[in-house]
Amino acid sequence: MDHWPLRSYLELGALPSAVPCARLHTKHLLWEWGLETFTDATELVVSELVTNAQRVSAGLTGSRFGGRWRPGVPPVRLWLYSDKERVLIQVWDGDDRQPEPQYVDPQAESGRGLLLVETLCAEWGTHRLEGSSGKLVWALVGGVDGDQSTH
Ligand SMILES: Nc1ncnc2c1ncn2[C@@H]1O[C@H](COP(=O)(O)OP(=O)(O)OP(=O)(O)O)[C@@H](O)[C@H]1O
Ligand SMILES: [Mg+2]
Repeated sequence: MDHWPLRSYLELGALPSAVPCARLHTKHLLWEWGLETFTDATELVVSELVTNAQRVSAGLTGSRFGGRWRPGVPPVRLWLYSDKERVLIQVWDGDDRQPEPQYVDPQAESGRGLLLVETLCAEWGTHRLEGSSGKLVWALVGGVDGDQSTH
């Protein structure tokens, strides 16, 4: 965690509007951090991960986070971290399934979100959080090595 002196956390409703909200937040934050060079890639990755998280959350009726049960559609949680050389994006949703990049038919119009994340990011992955349902999906923009674990 010491690797990430710049940190931000935003809790979003699992609504379609979460996606533009997350993008705008990311853009403003990277400007504030003086990291505009990362803005385009980070915004795209945030957009793909939050879109996925919002979609899978829609049908849920409750979730656990940090040991606390909460009824209703869970929020989508977004963390952004930086050490000025890389930006770490983390998105939590309350759905227990794991994201899986898929083979997509060349004619298909969708299904490439995670492939885009793979292309733009040095690394990405997913893990469960203790005392919580769902999972966290993380992705690293910039840099090629380093410790991305924050939990
Ligand atoms: N947060 C998530 N939770 C559970 N499953 C996920 C999550 N994100 C992605 N997936 C699964 O992985 C598949 C691939 O995701 P990906 O983002 O690549 O494509 P998509 O969301 O289907 O299409 P697109 O991103 O082009 O709109 C999804 O169809 C979904 O089944
Ligand atoms: Mg997607």
